[in-house]
Amino acid sequence: MLKILLLNGPNLNMLGLREPEIYGSETLAELETAVQQYAATKNIEIKAFQSNSEGKLVTAVQEARTWADGIVFNAGAYTHTSVALRDAISSIELPVVEVHISNVHARESFRHHSYLSAVCLGVIAGFGRNSYFLGVDALERHISGGK
Ligand code: DQA
Repeated sequence: MLKILLLNGPNLNMLGLREPEIYGSETLAELETAVQQYAATKNIEIKAFQSNSEGKLVTAVQEARTWADGIVFNAGAYTHTSVALRDAISSIELPVVEVHISNVHARESFRHHSYLSAVCLGVIAGFGRNSYFLGVDALERHISGGK
């Protein structure tokens, strides 16, 4: 059974309340449950964690190397600011898929640059909640050799 860390960064605990025209009306708990249920049908176990704290996210990435096969990571605004999270991703051997609910490239220019993308397996952005499901699919196909 594959094990995946579903990791969410700052303000994603506000899903459902926060700018619903951009991020949708579903709460993070609802979304996490839906992704867990979807993954279970593929025999994948998802552990979900969210933090507003950069340091806690760094620790979650570091600890994932001891138990997870990969990470689906929406780092929120830290995507655009955090060398520490980039270094954490670089320091583990695991494949990490960067995901965004919104199409960051269609938004403000400060969202166009990601410190994380270059050290991630790939990036999925702009598909709404489906970005997370696609992230799980991308990891599964990568790990299984794409068969
Ligand atoms: C986000 C995009 C980021 O620019 C923003 O800071 C977020 C959410 C997204 O999922 O679309 O917090 O990562």
